Amino acid sequence: MDSHPNIYQPFPVFIARTLPQISEHRLFQLKLEDGGTWERFGHQPGQFIEVSIFGKGEAPISISSPPTRPDVLEICVRRAGRLTGSLFELGKGSRLHVRGPYGRGFPVDKLKGRKLLLVAGGLGLAPLRSLLLYVLDRREEFKDLILMYGTNNPDNVLFKYELLSFFDRNDITYFYSVDRDQEGIWKQYVGVVTGLFDQAQLSPDDTCAVLCGPPVMYRFVLEKLLKLGFAKENIYMSLERMMKCGVGKCGHCAIGEKYCCMDGPVFNYTEIEHIKEAI
Ligand SMILES: Cc1cc2nc3c(=O)[nH]c(=O)nc-3n(C[C@H](O)[C@H](O)[C@H](O)COP(=O)(O)OP(=O)(O)OC[C@H]3O[C@@H](n4cnc5c(N)ncnc54)[C@H](O)[C@@H]3O)c2cc1C
Ligand code: FES
Repeated sequence: MDSHPNIYQPFPVFIARTLPQISEHRLFQLKLEDGGTWERFGHQPGQFIEVSIFGKGEAPISISSPPTRPDVLEICVRRAGRLTGSLFELGKGSRLHVRGPYGRGFPVDKLKGRKLLLVAGGLGLAPLRSLLLYVLDRREEFKDLILMYGTNNPDNVLFKYELLSFFDRNDITYFYSVDRDQEGIWKQYVGVVTGLFDQAQLSPDDTCAVLCGPPVMYRFVLEKLLKLGFAKENIYMSLERMMKCGVGKCGHCAIGEKYCCMDGPVFNYTEIEHIKEAI
């Protein structure tokens, strides 16, 4: 990769490590072929890349690691179809191509000096993790940090060891939920993620909320936040839409007058509340 990457041009990277996550989900650590760090890639938390494998196609994938950890670029992938299926067949040392970084990430500068409430559902933790780790790496630049993460059952908790490691920290408050716990092994909250709001001490006046998850989660979490008195300007969310080009050319990702790939994927709630198909 050149020192100033051409974001339109795919460049080769190799898989330094793969880490199994839950069923059909895997974390890939990517390294640059020239041995350099990802610092010159210049990505922001919340941005995504287009990953391609020759002859297999291309797909947008969120960057899961923060720019504060530039040795590897991490992506957390769910096996969905052609490209991701082929990616799962590759191992350590295999070559693939990426282009990017794309899209508007989380507004890190606006979040600095604020209290943060991060709410993730399911695979939504993958993009949100880039912000979460960024905040933890620059902890003194942010005020209180609350994480809420919900998934459907205890087998589907992503980044389990990382989430467990927060038990030893006193600079993050965390609440984890599962929708169902048939085996009775879950020690935390059982129920949908919005149930966690009743456990947290939130101060809506000076807290920014950042959401990342499935559309159904947004509907209920937004309702909760607005009821609690959060200002719409203090709510951000990452929207995932079918994307192809990733650079505003094909129109696949349009919602109303916005292109998710260029105007998003992260939006302030005030920018999309009037767009019916946004949530
Ligand atoms: C900005 C952005 C970030 C993303 N980040 C991640 C990530 O971090 N990890 C990850 O695993 N996936 C992520 N995805 C989703 C991923 O790009 C799709 O699953 C993609 O289709 C996989 O390509 P494929 O060739 O393996 O599957 P395909 O052969 O293209 O299709 C797989 C199936 O998924 C459907 N599909 C395609 N795109 C989407 C979508 N956006 N939402 C729901 N269904 C879809 C298709 O209709 C098809 O049925 C992201 C998508 C976007 C737009
Ligand atoms: S993905 Fe092509 S315009 Fe957004």
